[in-house]
Amino acid sequence: MATADDPTAARAELGRLLGGVQGRLEDLLAAERREWHAANPDSVALVDAIAEVVFSGGKRLRPAFCAAGYLAAGGDPAAPEVVDVAAALEALHTFALLHDDVMDASELRRNKPTAHVAHAELHRREGWRGEPRRYGEGVAVLAGDLALTYANRLAAGAPPRVRGVWGELCTELMAGQYLDIRAAARFSPDPELARHIALFKSGRYTISRPLSLGGLLAGGSEGTLAAFEEYGLAVGEAFQFRDDLLDAFGDTDATGKPSQLDFRQHKMTLLMSFALRDEPAVSDLVGDDLAGTDPDELYATLVATGIRDRVEAVIEERVKVACEAVRAADISPEWAAELSTMAHQAAYRDH
Ligand code: IPE
Ligand code: IPE
Ligand code: MG
Ligand code: MG
Ligand code: MG
Repeated sequence: MATADDPTAARAELGRLLGGVQGRLEDLLAAERREWHAANPDSVALVDAIAEVVFSGGKRLRPAFCAAGYLAAGGDPAAPEVVDVAAALEALHTFALLHDDVMDASELRRNKPTAHVAHAELHRREGWRGEPRRYGEGVAVLAGDLALTYANRLAAGAPPRVRGVWGELCTELMAGQYLDIRAAARFSPDPELARHIALFKSGRYTISRPLSLGGLLAGGSEGTLAAFEEYGLAVGEAFQFRDDLLDAFGDTDATGKPSQLDFRQHKMTLLMSFALRDEPAVSDLVGDDLAGTDPDELYATLVATGIRDRVEAVIEERVKVACEAVRAADISPEWAAELSTMAHQAAYRDH
């Protein structure tokens, strides 16, 4: 256990649990591959499409927040059930990414071609019949569906209250993604809606729900769970606002994702909602065609108007709220410090 004498023990315990999660994912996918190969060798391509995403260098934030919630709430590091739930979260994330990249027409994920692009390319190379794009998207949708099945399988053995939260987080994610594409289609600036979408499509399943799942599995007190909720919602929002800023201003070599894809997909992020509602220089430039606006000019205008700083200020405020929530929580000072570090890492990452 982490003690005041050894503040790095918290991080070491977390690392051990995350090693277990990695092993769980490797074992599951290897076993699935063997089984599918015996049934029909061609079908393993679907398992491989999942494995390519799972083992392509994600940050593993969701397992990390789940394991951190578990350990911070006093869970036994040697008990196995948190490993399955943390692995389920990464499988769910894989499903979300596979489908999200189809919906957002993204060509790059973790510095590699997205599944739908890779399989469309295969279709083209082989000279197969039908439309390559439709084929590629079909494969990505099926691989995503399969990843969701694995996620549900991994979560199935958890206690009922944990499974209840699991169900909530799955439906939140889908509702959030729906609202995201709907807001892009309607293209009406609404900062409150943008904040709601940021939380539902991403912040909840990335931070607050994983932390709650870990806290519940550890049998944490209601007070601890309430502090986790306050912390998790605040960090969850900050996480997605950073994602939006990285899309607009970040470097594709660092993020492994296309830059300024949100502009091309007319996404109504908090950044864009503030800009289009409050800054005539931006609304005049964009009109009703964000996808057709010159990205360099838009970049310069967004920076000049100070809108970027406004989103940075929201992130700063969210991180402050989160750190205060864990400072006041009934957990060890080492875990409060570790969770504060994790909040900063999620909110101030470069990829
Ligand atoms: C990307 O999530 C998708 C969002 C929810 C914004 P991450 O930033 O956690 O991506 P990986 O897993 O580290 O690649
Ligand atoms: C997606 O949000 C959230 C998911 C459920 C995957 P984004 O569309 O902004 O995520 P990225 O930028 O593609 O990773
Ligand atoms: Mg996307
Ligand atoms: Mg998206
Ligand atoms: Mg994004």
